[in-house]
Amino acid sequence: MATVNRPWWQSGVVYQIYPRSFQDSNGDGIGDLAGIVERIDYLAWLGIDAVWVSPFFPSPMADFGYDVSDYTGVDPIFGKMADFDRLVAALHARNIRLILDFVPNHSSDQHPWFKESRNSRDNPKRDWYIWRDPRPDGGPPNNWLSLATGRNAWQFDPATGQYYFHAFLTEQPDLNWRNPAVRKAMYDALRFWLDRGVDGFRVDVLWHLAKDPEFRDNPINPDYRDSDPPWRRLQQIYNADQPGIIDIVKEMRQLLDSYPGDRPLIGEIYLPRARLMEYYGPHLDAAQLPFNFSLLWESWNREKWNAPALMRLVQDYEAALPRGAWPNWVVGNHDQPRIATRLGAAQARVAMVMLLTLRGTPTLYYADELGHESVQIPPERVRDPFGINMPGGTQGRDPVRTPMPWDASANAGFTKGEPWLPLAWNAAALSVETQKHDAGSMLSLTRSLLALRRSELALAIGDWAPLSSGDGILAYQRTWEGRSFAIVLELESRPKTVRLGDGINGQVALSTHPGRVGQRIAGSVRLDADEAVVVALTD
Ligand code: NOJ
Ligand code: CA
Repeated sequence: MATVNRPWWQSGVVYQIYPRSFQDSNGDGIGDLAGIVERIDYLAWLGIDAVWVSPFFPSPMADFGYDVSDYTGVDPIFGKMADFDRLVAALHARNIRLILDFVPNHSSDQHPWFKESRNSRDNPKRDWYIWRDPRPDGGPPNNWLSLATGRNAWQFDPATGQYYFHAFLTEQPDLNWRNPAVRKAMYDALRFWLDRGVDGFRVDVLWHLAKDPEFRDNPINPDYRDSDPPWRRLQQIYNADQPGIIDIVKEMRQLLDSYPGDRPLIGEIYLPRARLMEYYGPHLDAAQLPFNFSLLWESWNREKWNAPALMRLVQDYEAALPRGAWPNWVVGNHDQPRIATRLGAAQARVAMVMLLTLRGTPTLYYADELGHESVQIPPERVRDPFGINMPGGTQGRDPVRTPMPWDASANAGFTKGEPWLPLAWNAAALSVETQKHDAGSMLSLTRSLLALRRSELALAIGDWAPLSSGDGILAYQRTWEGRSFAIVLELESRPKTVRLGDGINGQVALSTHPGRVGQRIAGSVRLDADEAVVVALTD
């Protein structure tokens, strides 16, 4: 394997595990930490560098773990602290890093801190959350809307006569990050996990931590369309991303930096590009990887997915990066429809080549390496509160959180019990076991891409340069110390010959299509419909 003196998270690939759905070890139908340990050989075989595990902390599960009631424990559903320690040791033994999900913006309403806080107006923990008097007419303090329900984000508490703020569910009261005692308690929680060997954090809704101190009303959004989620009726101006936010991120970063090894801070930030870049910090001293969701939006459907738009996106993002900042790319997570459903199976393969050959750290969502689609959930089995709460009959996020299909046995090897969400109808055909033995499968493609990245620094950390975006083709080049690759993606589902230019010669190192590897290229390349190739260039 090629090496270079760079932090691991720059050349590495992050794999996101939604722990409820990866592997169940005890037959209760819900994935758990011991289950992940059982599947570590798969992760090593696949060739990823780090896993980010969505929350497994004690929680009433109103938002399936994103409502934490104890920041330094393991929920019994997911196992015990000993299982966590085993997970760290087993991952590290295979040189895989572990990234935890840190949920600092809000706790569960069952967290002891909130229980105290709501006890009385003069409770010492009152100011740990965001409490405000009603308006003179008794209404909520302002017009901010909950991102989870689309309704007003303030909940009246009759016992003390004030409202508390919750950016998400009523069961997820927002912590008051302007209170130094809150920060200290949360940093202690980070230390707890760092001391146990955690290699980094993905920080939930990082841009939400600072709100307008005057709690001004958000303005009406003139661009609101009926198809938008209801909270978009207002512009998100005052409820998040306020002055002071970067200082908070810097504090977190300093804490991570005080530990040995490179332990990155990955920020979940849904903001326009210019604002997103601020989260790197003025001296690259805030988040190392503010999640870049632009490719996720650009792959939203087949209409949006086209070469000129993608080229513009990559160039704009590359150009906007602060000097020395490291890029990153995402096409799926536990909140968004699956890429194979958005683009279809053939273009999902092309998107995988793109995700793993752009410059920057890719995050791969579990089962996307199988080409897994979003699963239709029968109404009586819908579990996601975001689905149940939102008007308009949405299924919420359950369709992208279904169990990982491992083999052709009952419940695809995920559980010996009744799975908490239904499996895909084609789980056996999609399963790891089936695809492993098929050289043309999405799994084999993903694994080959990961292996190639690992052996070629040009692909892992090399420079990026555009080649062409004409004729439904996206082509770009990656280069590191004299070694170059051309990546050519066919996005229109039409076979064609692509002129790359005189002097662009080489050999196909990888293709979405069988039988292409080793083929010589001179000046132009012939692509099948929906084909993507990685060409090792020669002088
Ligand atoms: C973002 C998480 O990704 C999502 O799953 C969660 O519901 C909200 N934050 C609230 O924590
Ligand atoms: Ca279980």
